[in-house]
Amino acid sequence: MIIGELNDIARRLVAPAKGILAADESTNTIKRRFDSINVESTEQNRRDYREMLFRTPGANEFISGVILYDETLRQRGADGTPIVSILREQGIIPGIKVDKGANPLANTDGEMITDGLDGLRDRLAEYYEIGARFAKWRAVITIGKDANGNSIPSQYCIDANAHMLARYAALSQEAGLVPIVEPETLMDGDHSIERCHEVTLNALHSAYDQLARQRVDLRGTLLKPNMVISGKDASERADANEVAERTLDAFMREVPAAVPGIVFLSGGQSDEEATENLNAINIAAESMNAPWELSFSYGRALQAAPLKAWGGDAANTEAAQQEYYRRAMLTSAARQGKYTPDMGT
Ligand code: 13P
Repeated sequence: MIIGELNDIARRLVAPAKGILAADESTNTIKRRFDSINVESTEQNRRDYREMLFRTPGANEFISGVILYDETLRQRGADGTPIVSILREQGIIPGIKVDKGANPLANTDGEMITDGLDGLRDRLAEYYEIGARFAKWRAVITIGKDANGNSIPSQYCIDANAHMLARYAALSQEAGLVPIVEPETLMDGDHSIERCHEVTLNALHSAYDQLARQRVDLRGTLLKPNMVISGKDASERADANEVAERTLDAFMREVPAAVPGIVFLSGGQSDEEATENLNAINIAAESMNAPWELSFSYGRALQAAPLKAWGGDAANTEAAQQEYYRRAMLTSAARQGKYTPDMGT
């Protein structure tokens, strides 16, 4: 295996001050985002919006890689330049979402399993040919009660998803792509941060057990986890310091030091919350000599502001790019533990 190359790509993705833009919304998800600004989700609008983000001057100071959806990886910009080339010319590494979304897990009442292993080996080979150098697979773990009132997640759901994550990771490495392993414990619900901590520990433990069993070399991987955080609707939500403490506690216990970097998802946190929490995590990590880079792979927390500023109108391109640049700059500061709320105002 080409572990040296995979390790090199993984480390470039978490280079100092840099992190990843997740722009890999599926066709259904991007339609929901466009609905929120009353823009029709046509192939051209999706291309124009994403090309606008990718051409933001100077964003490559903060962004090392972009996760693309299948459609975007194959698209060309308005002037005919392949999207992949637009990114590469700026030193940004193209990545690809390779899972096919979450569907109901058989023999449960409301838990989910991620699909997409069938034909994956061939798809990965093609994605490498087009220019992708890393991949993403997202598993979804829900905290709460199932349709029968039983507490979830079940161990069955956690282990089945971990098994699929490791299958995907092994195939990605075989194809020369760095797998981003994403076991996402959702923040939907009113659960406590303690409950999120417990479930996150379990999900990480199962994922690293399967990765080891399936012979995945962790030096050529990245982890994309949720932060350990209170449920969105919890009555008293833990502050950034507690989020940092519990998040690092979970990782120090369960994430091997061979993993080059941890890139958080924003998962529905507001822009400010995702930035403050990442900052607190990096400050705490430094004081405890955490072995991995702690960076970001944000979708919504980087895109909410530019999406709104763009509003489907090319005349707003510059304003939207400024918003994206600003969020990327602030998130980069947080990734270094150097963010202050009055920055960039
Ligand atoms: P959010 O940061 O919006 O959670 O998206 C990241 C992502 O790629 C989830 O799979």
